[in-house]
Amino acid sequence: MSKVAVTGGAGFIGSHVVDVLLNRGYEVLVIDDLSNGIKENVNQEASFYEVNICDPFLREVLGKEGPDALIHLAAQSSLRNSTKNPRFDAQTNILGSICVLESCKDLCIGKVVYSSSVDVYGEPQYLPIDENHPIRPISPYAASKYAVENYLYCYKRNHGVDYVSLRCSNVYGPRQDSNGEAGFVAVFLDGFLRDRKPTINGDGGQTRDFIFVEDAAKAMVLALEKETNSKIFNIGSGVEVSIGGLYNEMKKIFERDLFPTYSDPIEGEVRRMSINPGLAEKELDWKPETTLEVGLRKTIECFKAKKN
Ligand SMILES: NC(=O)c1ccc[n+]([C@@H]2O[C@H](COP(=O)([O-])OP(=O)(O)OC[C@H]3O[C@@H](n4cnc5c(N)ncnc54)[C@H](O)[C@@H]3O)[C@@H](O)[C@H]2O)c1
Repeated sequence: MSKVAVTGGAGFIGSHVVDVLLNRGYEVLVIDDLSNGIKENVNQEASFYEVNICDPFLREVLGKEGPDALIHLAAQSSLRNSTKNPRFDAQTNILGSICVLESCKDLCIGKVVYSSSVDVYGEPQYLPIDENHPIRPISPYAASKYAVENYLYCYKRNHGVDYVSLRCSNVYGPRQDSNGEAGFVAVFLDGFLRDRKPTINGDGGQTRDFIFVEDAAKAMVLALEKETNSKIFNIGSGVEVSIGGLYNEMKKIFERDLFPTYSDPIEGEVRRMSINPGLAEKELDWKPETTLEVGLRKTIECFKAKKN
């Protein structure tokens, strides 16, 4: 396997996946409509196509390039926007993914790695969540992520398109968008660097499992390379951190307090989250390597460099 297509490769996680692939000697083509991604994020060694995955031109590009495999990250990636506009979410995340899978089927692209989310589990019934936890999505975004996992199963069973779905927890790191609705880390960081008071949705007691983007990107490439018995893996740190705790960690690094304000919790978000990444450790030979403190420091350096 030498040529890999990455949909959403101009986005936050996708651009890191492209870097990992290039470092491991793959030829890479990026497909992204730049609706949320940035062309400058894309490594210049990759070929770039500005294409919407819902556009029939997608098949033409994939047909011409002939990738052996595809990593599918292109999505409407905002949980909050999915509750405001569930139709648009479904159009991009479900119908767009079907367009990708149809192309894979017709062009005999052998394997798809899909970027799913731990949001598919809904409100946890136990922690840390493993892959056998019941699936009860509580947002249109989570419902769309789970729908695509079911389509992946159908395309594997009926058309032999192999797949692995990675249910990622909260990914953070360099290149994360700090505008509008963004990850907690990017929002706090932006606050510290611009001396702006951040807003915490909820009381800060809600918890998340934070995974550094380079670790998540590596998991996607390993999922592409490994022959595995399982098709679905949790990808996260296995460490439960409260949002207030995350803020305090960053306060310690910056040695000052911005005195955040608090607002209503976001509809569709769970109260607690921590995942068990044991299956990925066992079958993908992957483990979260970057501690929160190290990841935060690396992210801060990159945000500072970008600001100057
Ligand atoms: N960031 C996280 O914490 C997280 C956690 C779990 C899963 N995910 C999933 O990982 C993937 C990447 O997330 P991200 O945080 O990098 O988001 P992102 O918004 O930075 O990346 C998504 C990319 O897809 C592109 N895109 C959107 N619609 C498209 C379309 N119709 N055609 C072509 N390109 C399109 C965007 O321009 C963007 O570059 C998404 O599928 C997201 O649901 C993210």
